[in-house]
Amino acid sequence: MADTRPLTIALSKGRILEQTLPLLAAAGLTPAEDVQTTRKLMVGGSFAGQQVRFLIIRPADVCTYVEQGAADMGIAGRDSLLEYRPHVYEPLDLKIGRCRLCVCGPKALVEAGAPERGSRIRVATKYDHLASEYYLAQGVHAEIIHLYGSMELAPLVGMAERIVDLVETGGTLKANGLIEETTLCDISSRLIVNPASFATRKSQIQPIIEQLRQAVDQSDNG
Ligand code: PRP
Repeated sequence: MADTRPLTIALSKGRILEQTLPLLAAAGLTPAEDVQTTRKLMVGGSFAGQQVRFLIIRPADVCTYVEQGAADMGIAGRDSLLEYRPHVYEPLDLKIGRCRLCVCGPKALVEAGAPERGSRIRVATKYDHLASEYYLAQGVHAEIIHLYGSMELAPLVGMAERIVDLVETGGTLKANGLIEETTLCDISSRLIVNPASFATRKSQIQPIIEQLRQAVDQSDNG
């Protein structure tokens, strides 16, 4: 039996949303109300005359909604995809939300050199797996201190020697006396699709991917 639910698209709230909206508009995906100001978490909308709906959720939760099939597709940062490794398709780099995942620390500590093999270090991050993997490869015993945000504070209050966090302009690091030690990878937002949805609703999903692809190409060239 055909799935009659409106196609559901999970959007990351926060700073990515501002860059997402022009891309959605250029692709013909139109929310019925202002997703930046509404307090609703689910908003109706349309694409090519068909009803769709948008979920407005935390970036780290987009992977979960799409993996579980609660959303058919979504927009997620590469950082979340690398950290949580959800079982989803990733058909398109949207080239928004560009930043990098870095190891950072207080200027004096970083300038004194990277921690030696066999040494111990405390690392504040919300990227527990990525930070653990990195320090494992360095042969450094890292105690991961999980935080949900404002990682830059942890070294200032003596809770950690390093942070693993996103850096965009570098403004937050600078304002808190921290510098980058290493870039782990470049980050941008990706379109992700639930594999079962892709199999059963391909005729609805494929045109959206194609329209978004064109919108990305246009904004990249313009
Ligand atoms: C992100 C990131 C850094 C900051 C980097 O945090 O975690 O703190 O932005 O940006 P910048 O290099 O341009 O200063 P966000 O503001 O999204 O909030 P959070 O700390 O709650 O994650």
